[in-house]
Amino acid sequence: MKLFDVYSLFDVTPVKAEGCRIWDDKGQEYLDLYGGHAVISIGHTHPHYVEVLSDQLSKIGFYSNSVQNPLQEQLAERLGRISGYEDYTLFLDNSGAESNENALKLASFHTGKSRVIAFHRSFHGRTSGAVAVTDNPKIQAPFNQCHQVTFLDLNDTLAVEQELAKGDVAAVIIEGIQGCGGIHVPTAEFMRSLRELTQKHSAVLILDEIQSGYGRTGKFFAHQWYGIRPDIITMAKGMANGFPCGGILISPMFQATKGMLGTTFGGNYLAMAAALAVLDVMEQENLVENAHQVGEYILANLPKSDKIKEVRGRGMMIGIEFHDSVAPIRQALLKDYHIFTGVAGTNMVRLLAPLCLTKEQADRFLEALKELL
Ligand SMILES: Cc1ncc(COP(=O)(O)O)c(C=O)c1O
Repeated sequence: MKLFDVYSLFDVTPVKAEGCRIWDDKGQEYLDLYGGHAVISIGHTHPHYVEVLSDQLSKIGFYSNSVQNPLQEQLAERLGRISGYEDYTLFLDNSGAESNENALKLASFHTGKSRVIAFHRSFHGRTSGAVAVTDNPKIQAPFNQCHQVTFLDLNDTLAVEQELAKGDVAAVIIEGIQGCGGIHVPTAEFMRSLRELTQKHSAVLILDEIQSGYGRTGKFFAHQWYGIRPDIITMAKGMANGFPCGGILISPMFQATKGMLGTTFGGNYLAMAAALAVLDVMEQENLVENAHQVGEYILANLPKSDKIKEVRGRGMMIGIEFHDSVAPIRQALLKDYHIFTGVAGTNMVRLLAPLCLTKEQADRFLEALKELL
C-alpha cells in the first residue's frame, strides 16, 4: 500500500533531534526554525519531557474518560495559573481542528444560534466546522459548505458591528495572530472592539490560539497583548511538544452538562504527562520571555533589502514577506545552510522556531539570510 499523497515534503529524513536541532539519516545537522509547524515549544527531546513521558508510559498510558485521572486536574490547575485564567474550565481533546470544533459547538449550544463570523485569510483546521470558518475554498468540500459563515476583513470593526446587529450570530472566531494566512496581526483597537461588540450582542468570542498561543508570541496567549479576555480559547500545537493534545479554556458563563462534549483519546495519561512536562520546562527555563527576547532580536537584526516587502509578527511567530516567491531562498536555506523554515503563501518565509531558540542560533539564520540577499 502507498500513502495518500497529500503533503509536499522536504527532501530530508530526520532521525534524531535535540533542542532546536535535527539530524537526518546521513548525519547532517539542521537548525529547526519551523518547529514541525509551531508544535515544538520546549525544544526537541528535552530530557525532562523524555523522562516524564517514559515514566508515565511504564505506569499507565491510556484509559478512557470514564475513570478519575488526576493528571487532568493537575494540568487544569497549572494551566489556569500560568495563563491567568484560573476561573475558566478546561476541556481536553486531541488537535487544533477538534478544539475549534468543540468551541464552535459550545458557542452554538450556549446561544442557540448557528451563524459564525470569521475573517479573511483565517485558518482554523480541516474538520467540518473548522474548515467552514477557514477562508480557503480549495480545502472545503461541498459537504463543508452547509455551515452559515460570514467572512469579514480583519480590523473592519464597522462590518463586524453590522453583522452582529442582525442578532443571529453564535460566535466570532479569530486567531491571536493569523498564521497560515500570512502572519497578520490584528490591531489592539479592533480586538477590544470585538470584545465589546460580542458582549453587547450576546455572541461568543472564540480566540484561536492554536498557533499563536502557548508562549509563542512572548505572552502566554497572543490576545493578552491586546488586554482582552475572550469567552473560549482554543489550543493544541505547542501544548504537549509533539504529543497529540488539544484543549479549550471555557469562561465561567458556560454551563457543562454530562455528555455535552466528549472524546475517546482527549486527556489521556501520556498527553497529560507531556503537557505537564511542557509547563514545567516553560516555567523553569523562562521560555515565554525567551521567545519574546529572541523574537525582538530577530526583528531588530533582519537584513535590510529591497527584496523584502514587509516583516510582521512577534516572538517566535515571524513572517518575512518578499516581493517574489520565496521558494529559491527556502531551498538555499535548507540545502546550503541546513536551516528549516516555514512558508505562508508563495512570498513569505515563516519562522515558527521552538521557544528555546538562542540568539546564537538566530544569528546563524540572520547571517545566512544576509548572504542570500
Ligand atoms: C490557527 C490554527 N488553527 C487550527 C489549526 C488546526 O490544527 P490541527 O492541524 O491540529 O487540527 C491550525 C494548524 O495549523 C492553526 O494554525
